[in-house]
Amino acid sequence: MKKFLVIFMILTFLVSIGVFATTIRIGVIGKAAEAYWYQVNQGAQAAAKALGIKVDFFAPQTENIPMQISTFQTYVAEGFSGIAIAPSAPGAIVPYIHKAISMGIPVVTIDTDSASSDRYIYIGTDNYAAGYIGGKEMVKLLNGKGNVVIITGSLVASNSLERIKGFEDALKGTNVKVLTLLNDKEDVAKAFSLAQSAIVTYGKKLNAFYGVYYEDGPAEALALKSAGMKPGQVKVVCFDMGPDTLKYTREGYIQASTVQKPFFMGYLGVVTLYNMAKISPTYTMMMLPKDHHIDTGITLVTSKNVNQYLENMKKLGVPPTY
Ligand code: BGC
Repeated sequence: MKKFLVIFMILTFLVSIGVFATTIRIGVIGKAAEAYWYQVNQGAQAAAKALGIKVDFFAPQTENIPMQISTFQTYVAEGFSGIAIAPSAPGAIVPYIHKAISMGIPVVTIDTDSASSDRYIYIGTDNYAAGYIGGKEMVKLLNGKGNVVIITGSLVASNSLERIKGFEDALKGTNVKVLTLLNDKEDVAKAFSLAQSAIVTYGKKLNAFYGVYYEDGPAEALALKSAGMKPGQVKVVCFDMGPDTLKYTREGYIQASTVQKPFFMGYLGVVTLYNMAKISPTYTMMMLPKDHHIDTGITLVTSKNVNQYLENMKKLGVPPTY
């Protein structure tokens, strides 16, 4: 009898300290092995630490739709508590998200959406608006006239298509024209070689580059610098902020960047899924915007406000990757 009492007391103690509690394990799936996704993972891991949970992060080397889907399936099969994904192909992921949600595994999208899927919410930039802001900045820099080459990392992901649409809409009614649209498939080396060949192909006709993804602005700036161009001779408007974007902004090769908040996409993605696992998706959604979009926002960064931008990020506790 005494033996049973001791076992009972030990079990009660172990339950009270949470030994048998199921650990919350969240999966975050990014799009490419670039510093941008390192920033997203930093946010995801910071949230995991704050919440005392485990977060697994995966991103393929370059754009890779099958690898994203198979990782998603693995997380579902392993019974993860929730999954945050930035779908490279918004249509292809739809049935997989549907299946996960029907099995009780909540899914949110981060960075880029799959609007036609059952995901609960999209956490990231308003990409059309960001593209439009970049377009307006380009028109200003070119005084309303000139030729632009656009380089992106995807011709399928919604964020890329929305940015391009916003950018092109901002050029309407001006004499700023798009010469061509090139796709690097989220490959840094490819972005650089595409920028180099655009410089050769268009010569003096080329007045500016627009960089749609993280890798594009620095690749365009490096190509211009390597071709012996002076800073600002050919303008660059791009996205995001990493060590190279910072360097070329300071050197004057990049005029402006619509900088996203990848750290917060990771952080808020994990916190949202944690709440869903703890208090249910329905109650969590009651606290969130009714349009199913948490807009993480952008900052238009130029050489004039770059130091202020870095200062603000520091104040927000975002670890520097510069
Ligand atoms: C985009 C991501 C992309 C990253 C790297 C960012 O601007 O938001 O979707 O994966 O660039 O290419």
